[in-house]
Amino acid sequence: MSTNFNLGGGSKGFRKKKLKPFVRYLEVECWKRAELRELEPVFQAVAEACKQISRIVQRAKTDDLYGDALGADGAPLDGTNIQGEVQQKLDVICNTYMLRAFCGCSKAIHSVASEEEDEPRCCADIMSDSAFAVGDYVAVFDPLDGSKNIEASLPVGSIFGVYRAQPGVPIDGAKSFLQTGGNLVAAGYCLFSATTVLVITLGSGVDGFTLDPDVGQFLHTHEDIRIPASGPIYSFNEANFRDFEDPVKRYLAALKEGSSSVGMRSNARYVGALVADVHNILINGGIYGYPATFSNPSGKLRLLYESAPIAMIMENAGGAGSTGKGRILDVKPTEIHERVPTYLGSVENVFELDQFMSYYGDGDEESEETS
Ligand code: F6P
Repeated sequence: MSTNFNLGGGSKGFRKKKLKPFVRYLEVECWKRAELRELEPVFQAVAEACKQISRIVQRAKTDDLYGDALGADGAPLDGTNIQGEVQQKLDVICNTYMLRAFCGCSKAIHSVASEEEDEPRCCADIMSDSAFAVGDYVAVFDPLDGSKNIEASLPVGSIFGVYRAQPGVPIDGAKSFLQTGGNLVAAGYCLFSATTVLVITLGSGVDGFTLDPDVGQFLHTHEDIRIPASGPIYSFNEANFRDFEDPVKRYLAALKEGSSSVGMRSNARYVGALVADVHNILINGGIYGYPATFSNPSGKLRLLYESAPIAMIMENAGGAGSTGKGRILDVKPTEIHERVPTYLGSVENVFELDQFMSYYGDGDEESEETS
């Protein structure tokens, strides 16, 4: 017996909605805001890079793209990256796509800092052409976040942010990157999951675009995303529970008992890829946390290219981003790969976590109830 589905949009089938392509959305937004015009080709190129990464993630197994990155001689690349991780082939490929997207399509970006590079790099160096050293902006990105998820076909993501170089600070080396996230001009992420979704903020509002694989275009599926003011999901790696600070333990206990301001017992969801976990929180409401632990007092997430861009997205969608001691976007980094305890999500949830941190924050003792 055969079953025929009509997905073509005829009167008996599912009607396909006419959705605006990302390119058109960008044209309109950058026309409305003259200060963004110079960056329009950059955002277009980043969307193209996201399409390429989406494809490469899909084809990783069939094209033998798993495993450690190899040098030109076929031997594994020397050592580890700045994060102490052995670079994977996919990390190297995705980093190359992002470097080219930010540097190669216009001269707006002067330099970039990537999770995969020890130091920031000038676009002139990346493009081997001094003409690319004239831009007023710098970009930060994590080309493939959560890459250890790929082997098991779980979601991964890319994260990016763009800053205007600071007036009076020469754009070379790390200095022009060491700005608070509050100075971000734009930020976004791309989630590679059941669907590939690009989420972006260009300074106000947050919009989402789903890749239509048939036409190869990101289409405007999530207009003006607003995160629920409070939500029932919490997304923490609870395997680290014993190492969390007492206020975090108490907060998690309140979520589980249903005594938090959410007003019901919460639900745990943890993918282990930041983009996937925060996208779930952005759409459904709740809180994502990567707290400080006794062994890592600054947590795990990197401020510049993980926590700050996503905090900007959360805030512009009506949510919040906190270190537990204040707004993530107010933290000024002192080095490129600096880490920061990170809480992101619905404003009520993040506010309550901050309240627990300040109320219970002074004692070192573990409470009876939560230990
Ligand atoms: O970049 C850090 C990262 O890979 C995030 O994507 C993810 O949220 C986190 O690490 C997962 O860490 P863990 O395995 O310790 O929970």
